[in-house]
Amino acid sequence: NEESLKHKIGFSQCISKDDWRKAMDHEMEVEASLYEDIDLTIFQGNENVELQKSQIEFMIDNEFDVIIVSPLRPEPLVSVIEKAYDKGIPVIIMDRKINSQKFTAFIGANNLDVGRNAANYIASLNEKPSKILEIRGSDNSSPVIERHLGFHEIIYNEPNSKVEYRINDEDIEQRVPQILDSLHVKPINFVYAFNDDIAYRTWKIAKSKGLEESIKFIGVDGLNGANNGIQLVQNGILAATILYPTGGDEAIKIAMKILRKENVSKNNILNTTVIDYRNAEIMKNQYDKINKHQNEIEEQQEKITQQEETYSTQKNILKVLLGL
Ligand code: FRU
Repeated sequence: NEESLKHKIGFSQCISKDDWRKAMDHEMEVEASLYEDIDLTIFQGNENVELQKSQIEFMIDNEFDVIIVSPLRPEPLVSVIEKAYDKGIPVIIMDRKINSQKFTAFIGANNLDVGRNAANYIASLNEKPSKILEIRGSDNSSPVIERHLGFHEIIYNEPNSKVEYRINDEDIEQRVPQILDSLHVKPINFVYAFNDDIAYRTWKIAKSKGLEESIKFIGVDGLNGANNGIQLVQNGILAATILYPTGGDEAIKIAMKILRKENVSKNNILNTTVIDYRNAEIMKNQYDKINKHQNEIEEQQEKITQQEETYSTQKNILKVLLGL
């Protein structure tokens, strides 16, 4: 049948609940719908490495043609990913790295650059001294490690800038109020949060204490849409967000190249940039255009499916009428 002629691409997504991950899944779905000969399945990992492991095992056992993985953490999936790769199944790693070189291609922005961009942005504002609260993600994924390293590399060389407090996002509710209550001892004027959601949650706590105006908030992701990074910049809640593209459509493009036996680079690095009040509007317009385009594609696909269904019903009716 037709389905069995299609190439099977599977994606194991580590985290399911946030807008950034949903945007990645959606980009993949829209891009995949453009090719007739592929069938994309997205498996939700729900922040559970055991689940991700079994999803990859499933893809190996069911002879998927390309396996895409955004691994929750760098270590636990190494052996199952190596197993797939050793069997000759192309593996694409997205956004977070693994502790192995046994994969076909990596796609993601450089998180050292994300950290450097955030630090250079703070330095460029020339608000001396810069006293910073750094709020990291709670796991030891490569974005968390590299967003920290890149940031510190720049800040260490800025004589008047200092990270005064460093906390993990899971401690926000407890630690941020304490820190804000002790600003008379150790003041801060910047928050560098490892994503926009963390920055926004911290801003809300600062606002509840009337302190949101005296601190500049910087996040990461720069997603378009309600309460996402670009809008938070436009609303004056974030001073800046560092763009971290999801790479969903690139992943499918690269999978297609692999299936067509074209050459692909091992490292496919996506661009990152600072979004602040100067370019937020432009970025929003660009993403709105992409969204419009994606919606049009989806509508077209919907129409094609309907036409196909009508056609096959008509064909069946005709067969019955003709006694075939
Ligand atoms: C979403 C997220 C993003 C972040 C990325 C890093 O799940 O936390 O906010 O940029 O993952 O892997």
